[in-house]
Order: sequence, then C-alpha cells, then structure tokens
Amino acid sequence: MTLTKQDAVDQMMGFFQAKTLTAALDLKLFDHLHTQDLSAGEIADKLKSPLRSVEQLLIGLRAMGYLEKQGDNYHLPQEHASFLVSHEPMWLGWLGRHIDTFLYPLWGELKSAVTSDTNQRQAVFGDDRSWFDILYQNPEDVTDFQEFLGKFAAPFIHGFVQDYDFSQHRSFLDIGSGIGTLPIAVAGINPDIHLTICELPQACAFLRDKLAVQGYGDRINVIEGDVIAGKLALQDYDLIHLGWMLHDYAPEIQMTILKNIYDAMPAGGCFMASETPLNDEKSGPEFTALLSLNMLVSTDGGIESSTEEYLERFRAVGFENVRLINISGPRTLICGDKPQSASL
Ligand SMILES: C[S@@+](CC[C@H](N)C(=O)[O-])C[C@H]1O[C@@H](n2cnc3c(N)ncnc32)[C@H](O)[C@@H]1O
Repeated sequence: MTLTKQDAVDQMMGFFQAKTLTAALDLKLFDHLHTQDLSAGEIADKLKSPLRSVEQLLIGLRAMGYLEKQGDNYHLPQEHASFLVSHEPMWLGWLGRHIDTFLYPLWGELKSAVTSDTNQRQAVFGDDRSWFDILYQNPEDVTDFQEFLGKFAAPFIHGFVQDYDFSQHRSFLDIGSGIGTLPIAVAGINPDIHLTICELPQACAFLRDKLAVQGYGDRINVIEGDVIAGKLALQDYDLIHLGWMLHDYAPEIQMTILKNIYDAMPAGGCFMASETPLNDEKSGPEFTALLSLNMLVSTDGGIESSTEEYLERFRAVGFENVRLINISGPRTLICGDKPQSASL
C-alpha cells in the first residue's frame, strides 16, 4: 500500500472532523432539526449561543455531509437522525462524550506513552487509580461508556445469537457484560436458559437500573465480582463468556483472568472470549491496531493480540478443545472447555 502526502495530511487533520461532530452532538444541535428545518439564527437562539460561531459550526457540518441547506434553512436528512438525535436508540453522543472526556485528552499524550510504555492517566487526570476506577467515578461517565459500548457490540451480538446454539446450555454467565445487551438478546430467543451477569461493583448500580427499566430485572441475575481479584463462584454456569475485556489488560493479567475463571468454573463447562484480534502478521486490521494504542494510553498494559496468541493463552491455562467458533459479525470467538477430569 502506497500513501500520498495528501493521505498523510488528511489523516493528521482528521481530528477536525472528530471534534466538529463531538461538539455538535454534545450541544444536541441535531435534536433541534429533527422535526423542522431552521435558519442559522433560529439554531443559534435554541443553543443560546452567538450566531457567528454557530454558523461556522453549521457550515462545517454541512461540508462534512451531515446537514443539507434548503433556502435559508438547515435540514437534517432522516437517515442521519437515527444516530445524531439524542432520543434515537443509536445516538452516538455517548461515544462523543467518552471521546471528549477521556480518549482525546489521553491520546494527546501518545508520544509520552510510546516513549515510556505507560498509560497517561496520571499525566492527564493527575490520578493513578485504575482505568475503570477513573472511568466509573461519575455516574454520567459510566452511562456514556456503557451506552456506546452496547451500541458497538450490536453487530457482534446479532451474529452470536443467530449463529450459536445457546439452547445446548442450561446456564449462561456473561462476565463484564457492560449494559447487558448480550444476555438480553439471549433471553429473547432462549426462554429456558438461566442468565447471569458478573460486573465490577462500580458498574452494577447502572446495570441493575438499566435491566429493570427494560423489564429484565427478574430475568437476568447480576452478581458483583472482579475476575482479577479472583474468589469467583462460577460453579453454576455451563457457558461463560467474556466480551472485549482481555484486551483491556496486559498479557500476564489476561493469564490471571483466564486462570481465575478456569479454576472457578465447573468441570465440563465451556468458556468463550470474544475479541477483535490482530491478524497473524500483525499488519492490521487498522481499527484493531489503533485500538491497541488506545489501550496503551488508557489502561495498565492493555494490548491487542493475534488470534494465535489468545489461543495459546487458553491452552497454557489448561483449557482443552481450544478452538475458534464461527459466527457472523465483527468479533472472533475463542473457546475452550474445562476437562471433565479437572478437579477444583
Ligand atoms: C470494554 S467493556 C466490554 C463490554 C461488553 N462485554 C462487550 O463485549 O462489548 C469491558 C467490561 O468489562 C468490565 N470489567 C473490566 N474489568 C473487570 C474485572 N476485573 N472484573 C469484572 N468485570 C470487569 C467493565 O466494567 C466493562 O463493562
């Protein structure tokens, strides 16, 4: 692949686009255009902001293709409303706020992270608590993070419930479930399976509220737990899933997580981790490669691995029949069974 100087310039200036969009989402500018077309002056009034600068933002959003102009009025195409208007289910404002509050400031210190192989939480937030402790200190930050992750996971969950036969299991545990979108989807097609989520204590209040308002408060059990600290009671679950969490931690911590789960789960049980691995040559995919840098600036040694590296970690812990399960969608499902003969 050969890139031009213009490609490099476009990539370097890509943050212009990112910040234009996150600002507009945070201002809920698109909400005002959901049911009516408005002039720049009317939008400025609704945002209680000066006309000149609001018009600069509107011109930027129009140039990027998010808005159209008809006469003097700005128009939001219906196809864009589904992810730009705040009361629509696929609203991207959650992601925008997470980017503005956490990711963008941390990425500002990427050079230091690379030259020191350390996350930049101390430099940016003056705080040396863990990534999830900082992330979950304010309820609104928990909401932003979990809501956007739930949406990110949607294509994976769709493929998982469509292609995997959950009815062969009695009891399913989703560790680090976030907002609970996977167990909710499994409940939708498997009325008999027992469903439980294990989450960090700091994330559980939000999760329980979210399940209750959707009518799953009784259907899906929530237990508090930390898979790194251990002391897990997992004997009741014949299928355990861990989604997009191994990459949040350094390989040696990943081994601790896998060992804690292996030790606590029942003999004969099945364990799966879903990840978006690097390819074997570690030449991509680009999103995963850049996500690895995101792990560098934010987490304690989190890193993206290849599929083979994940499989090897499963084997090293003692899982047998270590394999990949084919499902449609963006994630790879790495799977292993705890031998029937394994004693606790
Ligand atoms: C990147 S999110 C993934 C959410 C979801 N499982 C998915 O597949 O999209 C990682 C989740 O793991 C949880 N988590 C992180 N560390 C954990 C730990 N040590 N024990 C239990 N849960 C943890 C976080 O609270 C968060 O919800």
